[in-house]
Amino acid sequence: MIVVFLGPPGSGKGTQAKKLSQELGIAHISTGDLLRDAVKRGTDLGKRAKEYMERGELVPDSLIVSLIEEVMPKDGGFILDGFPRTVPQALALENMLEGYGKHVSKVILFEVPEEVVVDRLSGRLTCSSCGAVYHVKYNPPKQEGVCDLCGSKLVQREDDKEEVVRRRFRVYKEQTEPLVEFYKGKNKLISLDATQSVEEINKKILEVLKDGG
Ligand code: AP5
Repeated sequence: MIVVFLGPPGSGKGTQAKKLSQELGIAHISTGDLLRDAVKRGTDLGKRAKEYMERGELVPDSLIVSLIEEVMPKDGGFILDGFPRTVPQALALENMLEGYGKHVSKVILFEVPEEVVVDRLSGRLTCSSCGAVYHVKYNPPKQEGVCDLCGSKLVQREDDKEEVVRRRFRVYKEQTEPLVEFYKGKNKLISLDATQSVEEINKKILEVLKDGG
């Protein structure tokens, strides 16, 4: 099963992908997490991606496609969280999968309005070590500022400042939303109301995937 999570920043893709990956025992590939790790380690990719990420713009397709080629599992299912994000990326993914005799099973679209995104991202806290995601109001850690899972410090992402969040939302509308029609045309798109609770959304996704994922 190869599932693509599509949706604006802060729509809950990462939260659901982490849950689902544990529930179904399939890999979770987040281009955002991979890029942040590359920035932290100061790799060549990280150096080239950093400025785009800080500005809330997309990293060039060629860098992202090479990254996915490197990490894509050859066996077993996986969830793609945050990739593809442009039509050229989606076409490159099709080519790559064809090479392994595979195809995207379903694309889940997380629909949320801009104001919900701003509210969620202004309160998001991320573990500086294991990447677990929290929210000051909607999913607080047991102990303030400390990760429940590994005990490391929780931090706010640099690109979660309101001005950058609004730019990321605009970039999503302009460059990523065309993928909605792309995958509708292939009969793979399932839209979800992503303003519901984490548990409700998780239940819906499991239902959708059971239904012939
Ligand atoms: P990336 O890390 O992928 O960011 P994003 O897509 O903008 O998504 P987010 O991680 O911000 O949000 P999310 O939907 O995962 O929400 P989350 O679950 O955390 O990308 C970062 C940057 O990397 C990009 O801007 C770009 O520069 C670059 N990049 C990455 N991929 C790329 C690509 N393919 N091509 C080019 N460039 C690329 O939830 C958000 C908050 O809400 C959390 O606090 C959470 O606890 C809370 N929450 C989640 N669900 C709910 C709910 N149902 N109710 C209430 N609160 C909730």
